[in-house]
Amino acid sequence: MNKNNPIGIFDSGVGGTSIWKEINSLLPNENTIYLADSLNAPYGYKSVDEIISLSIKNTELLLQLGCKAVVVACNTATTNAISVLRKKYNVPFIGIEPAIKPAALNTQTFSIGVLATKGTLSSNLFSASTNEITKNIRLTEIVGEGLVPLIENGKLETAETILLLKKFIQPMIDAQIDHLVLGCSHYPYLIPQIKKYYQKE
Ligand code: DGL
Repeated sequence: MNKNNPIGIFDSGVGGTSIWKEINSLLPNENTIYLADSLNAPYGYKSVDEIISLSIKNTELLLQLGCKAVVVACNTATTNAISVLRKKYNVPFIGIEPAIKPAALNTQTFSIGVLATKGTLSSNLFSASTNEITKNIRLTEIVGEGLVPLIENGKLETAETILLLKKFIQPMIDAQIDHLVLGCSHYPYLIPQIKKYYQKE
């Protein structure tokens, strides 16, 4: 395969563009193709089999377009499907998982929170990579139900979005977390709102 071939990136929608931006700034000489499967978003409530079959479909399309590597810019697809993709195709797959490890290593309150999709939080890969590292830490896991469609529709600062954030983040504040892990590639688009309403100065 030619080294000038593009790197393929996929997500259920616009969320993975938060990853794409970083790839572009770290590897400015690489060509990239971004695939947003908005038709099938959100992935967070689909069964493992559905997530696998959508991930295969996305991969096939990117490989047809000549991609030399595939970035699964979606926590839900990574935690449920990347092992299948790695077995099935002979290209490198790079995935993303909730950043529990840095939060667990740096917490002072021994309490951290993770906001992610149902699919991610219920996956075997999430439990496997989380259980060991959070043994002495209180982990508050919350499903960000309803956030992805709002972000897909650009509703970042609406009353509905702020209300949902309040509902999800208040229990974490009550649990005295000092690190909030955003375990879905859509959620970084809500960082300004989260900071505005919840960051302690
Ligand atoms: N952006 C994805 C993730 O990181 C999926 C969100 C969804 O489609 O539910 O999990």
